[in-house]
Amino acid sequence: MQQLFGNRRLPDASLAQRGVRQNVRWLTHLLALLPAAILMWDWLNGNLSVNPVQEAIQRSGRIAITLLVATLAMRPLSHWLRQNALLAQRRPLGLYAFAYALLHVGLFLFFDYQLALPLIYQELVEKPYLWFGAGAFVILLPLAITSFRPWIHKLGKAWKRLHRWTYVAAILAVLHYGGAVKGDFLALRGEVLGPWAYGAGVAFLLAWRVWRRFCRESALHD
Ligand code: HEM
Repeated sequence: MQQLFGNRRLPDASLAQRGVRQNVRWLTHLLALLPAAILMWDWLNGNLSVNPVQEAIQRSGRIAITLLVATLAMRPLSHWLRQNALLAQRRPLGLYAFAYALLHVGLFLFFDYQLALPLIYQELVEKPYLWFGAGAFVILLPLAITSFRPWIHKLGKAWKRLHRWTYVAAILAVLHYGGAVKGDFLALRGEVLGPWAYGAGVAFLLAWRVWRRFCRESALHD
């Protein structure tokens, strides 16, 4: 059975697949934009803590790392659920992760420190965890720029290699998170559950990726 779709006739299965893809895309945009809307609402209504800029920095950082890990999770999820539509969500999720990271860094530089460079330098010297965040951000920047179609064609195989750096950005973001929270990340004291949970997630996703690659390569040599 076929149905008319635009000018073309598509099989029912393709139509269903297209429907799923569209729904998943809408859900991705909705879920990624919702935290920004809540943050804006809380900011405008004075629902943030006594230090609203600090809370906005913390929230935007947590949303950025969550979306970054979600980007990496799309590949295994699409494999287990047999839904190619999930693979296509890596680009919007990655771009949203970068947008929240940009907001996070922008709030830090412009609102918290009003671009006072000597003070920012002092912070960087006193809080080494900021270097991990800066490293993650520096990696995310070219990844976001090259996420668009012309770059994918232009870079060819190098594009894939470049985008594997998403894992490095995620590892650096976890270390940054671990250093930012109150407590001792390594001694498991204080508010370290969050960073450890994200760390475990990233470690699992990386191990899964390496294992899949190993399986593919050994199948090729058999
Ligand atoms: C130049 C880059 C960055 C700078 C200067 C920066 C700055 C900061 C600062 C100052 C804090 C501590 C806020 C506070 O508790 O007072 C923080 C926390 C945090 N940042 Fe960043 N950051 C950067 C990049 C990133 C990136 C790329 C990510 C994620 C992809 C990220 C995720 C986080 C998270 C999850 C926290 C902890 C939030 C919490 O305490 O719950 N940061 N960052």
